[in-house]
Amino acid sequence: MAGATGDLGLRIARHLVQRGAAVRALVRGGNTGPAMAVLRELGATVVEIDFNSVTALTQACAGADCVVSALSGLREVIVDAQKRLLDAAVAAGVPRFIPSDYCIDYTKLPAGGNRNLDLRREFNQRLDQAPIAATSVLNGMFTDLLTGQAPVVLFGLKRVVYWGDANQPLDFTTIENTAEFTAAAALDPHTPRYLRVAGEVATIRDVQRAASAATGQPFRLLWAGSVGVLGALSKLTKAMMPKSDDVFPPWQGMQYLHDMFTGQSKLSPLDNARYPEIRWTSVQEVLATRPREEK
Ligand SMILES: NC(=O)c1ccc[n+]([C@@H]2O[C@H](COP(=O)([O-])OP(=O)(O)OC[C@H]3O[C@@H](n4cnc5c(N)ncnc54)[C@H](OP(=O)(O)O)[C@@H]3O)[C@@H](O)[C@H]2O)c1
Repeated sequence: MAGATGDLGLRIARHLVQRGAAVRALVRGGNTGPAMAVLRELGATVVEIDFNSVTALTQACAGADCVVSALSGLREVIVDAQKRLLDAAVAAGVPRFIPSDYCIDYTKLPAGGNRNLDLRREFNQRLDQAPIAATSVLNGMFTDLLTGQAPVVLFGLKRVVYWGDANQPLDFTTIENTAEFTAAAALDPHTPRYLRVAGEVATIRDVQRAASAATGQPFRLLWAGSVGVLGALSKLTKAMMPKSDDVFPPWQGMQYLHDMFTGQSKLSPLDNARYPEIRWTSVQEVLATRPREEK
């Protein structure tokens, strides 16, 4: 596994161990974060590695059944580091590779409209040419973002903000469910090229109902404009903000919401039933986890 010290990656590692897998976590040298101790407690083999060395990565991949990536970053990670990891997996004869996609369905989106998804598309084109079986997990938006980063449920104002159509179905999956599904897919030798899941498919009206039920307070809708307005806003914000290495600047979040609200990136058909033991967490359950004084 690459990225096992991250939020999603550590959860994937835990689910892999729970499912009886031997996990080898490839981590950057010098990492002293708390995830290192958690990985060791789980029983994972932690291998400190230079991600610039295909030779070192090849040795680390030897004997594996599947390489799972949960790396997060921009070009130097999603394209460059994952390419080296892919070259290593192929050289080591690993049969399967799961890239760090975990997003909306970029295969249905035109190139050039969403920076982070364009990087995934570019890496996956390379992955498709490699002699290795690949599976991407597409999960929509992490539901967890609704209680934080995503400017959709405004708890203070009791409003649910949206663009375009309040009846547009949107895909939400928790980080935990995405990790559980990815672990199951990693241990399943016959996965297709893409697996699509959504813990809940919810319209903005459903999110409004979920917010009201989760907090016991009535939430109202707040229409912020058409999807065209949101697209223009994200371009404007991008042009106005100084260039930075931030993986998720505000304009990236707007691009993501834009691609969800247009409906273009809707996941279909869904593979939720592939591993029937997985219990999918609803939007309402996630919204209910927000501390009471903030509701
Ligand atoms: N669908 C959604 O709504 C959504 C939302 C958020 C994230 N995601 C996706 O989920 C995936 C995992 O994200 P996350 O939030 O779990 O990320 P995260 O917590 O930031 O973890 C990133 C991981 O990548 C590693 N990493 C970063 N740069 C590296 C490099 N140059 N070389 C080697 N390792 C490197 C980090 O290692 P260190 O510990 O050494 O830093 C860490 O293990 C990504 O594909 C991300 O885009 C999806």
